[in-house]
Amino acid sequence: IRGSRALKLDERGPPNIHRSVCMTSSTFSEPHSSGLPYYQELARKGEVHFEPSREMYLVLSHRLVRRVLTDPHTFSCRNGIENVFKDATSAPALLGLDPPDHTRLRALAASAFTPQTVARLKRCTYELAHRVLNEVIEAGAMDVVADISDKLPLMVIAGILGLPRDDWKHFLRWSHYIAAAAAPTVTREKEADHRGPLLEMRRYLLAEIEDRRTRPMEDLLSRFVHADVEGARLDTEEVLSLTMLLVSAGHGTTANGIGQGIRWLLAHPDQLDKLRRDRRLLPTAVEEILRYDPPMYMVPRVVTRTVDLEGHTLEEGDRLLYVAATANRDENVFSYPDQFDITRDPNPHLSFGYGIHFCLGAALARQEMRAALDVILDRCLHLERADTAPLEHGGAVHLNGLKHLRVRFQP
Ligand code: HEM
Repeated sequence: IRGSRALKLDERGPPNIHRSVCMTSSTFSEPHSSGLPYYQELARKGEVHFEPSREMYLVLSHRLVRRVLTDPHTFSCRNGIENVFKDATSAPALLGLDPPDHTRLRALAASAFTPQTVARLKRCTYELAHRVLNEVIEAGAMDVVADISDKLPLMVIAGILGLPRDDWKHFLRWSHYIAAAAAPTVTREKEADHRGPLLEMRRYLLAEIEDRRTRPMEDLLSRFVHADVEGARLDTEEVLSLTMLLVSAGHGTTANGIGQGIRWLLAHPDQLDKLRRDRRLLPTAVEEILRYDPPMYMVPRVVTRTVDLEGHTLEEGDRLLYVAATANRDENVFSYPDQFDITRDPNPHLSFGYGIHFCLGAALARQEMRAALDVILDRCLHLERADTAPLEHGGAVHLNGLKHLRVRFQP
């Protein structure tokens, strides 16, 4: 990302994306997310768009995004993101690896996140959702972002790894630094700011890893430490890198999903009402939230050989972003794509990616989003926005989060 063919994203990110989202108080009338109209306009003109000012291609249609994601040899993940933890560990991050390294490490982590394994965590996820809500319920008001969505995913992933759940505040801080370090806009000066916190995270995790070496427990960290991968152990650096990835990947995206979920339900009172009355719709509602406003708008790849994409000749080293946000509104795949419909089924959105890097935590994220929405709807009656301020983008530039979402309700 920082090489001579680096993405030239400026501090604003791609045009129009992630600015304040204007919103009128009572109606929640903004029809779509920040930046989306711009990208939809590009998608109407063609499936691929080259942005000269940024020296990168945008892949915009559902069909082509799938094509890119099913050809990892041509569209590689080694775009710099593999170095995101370099201040804390020498091992590259899983999500920036290509096969065969990727295959080996992914298989190890994947067993902890199968739908069956995750289903066993359902009760615990609900208990944690109640626990975070307990802290604010009496006030009859909360900031969904700070009070629920920043806490729940970190508590859940900490529990899976076997780390103290009450350390979520440390994980939150570290996760923010990792997300900032992963942003395509990061500069060398800003990188220096991330070094201290990432080293702090390293020290924290090293102590836990050393502990599991001598006292293995029934947790994922112990499994990483003692895993036998094709006859070899993971070294400490690899365990560190995997653990850091799970903490950071498990946090920001899911937090955005929960926050955006409440936001869009409030913006569509008929859909909110439908969901209140029939909680069996939670699974399709969560998919629709993810489709309508993906927590990761766009994700980078780098080209490894000359290839034609809809008349554009891409050369080795060229950069591209696959844009889940427009693929999810592709009218060749979704009927009435701009309509928010919590009963939509099937819903083949690409918000979790596709192919070999398909989100490892998808089942867990779905479960956390369902639990958070279910518990909030159960316990917070007459939910509505508490202020009239415009919603602001929060978190790293490449993630689609809100800074705050203040609501009030009747407990
Ligand atoms: C990969 C989205 C939650 C762990 C990905 C990718 C996407 C994504 C788009 C693929 C990136 C690519 O194509 O390069 C999301 C969304 C989430 C979510 C929208 C929440 C709504 C989680 C959770 C975890 C997690 C809860 C784990 C605890 C991972 C990991 C990868 C990944 C480890 C890398 C997989 C690989 O490279 O093989 N996620 N994610 N994610 N996600 Fe998620």
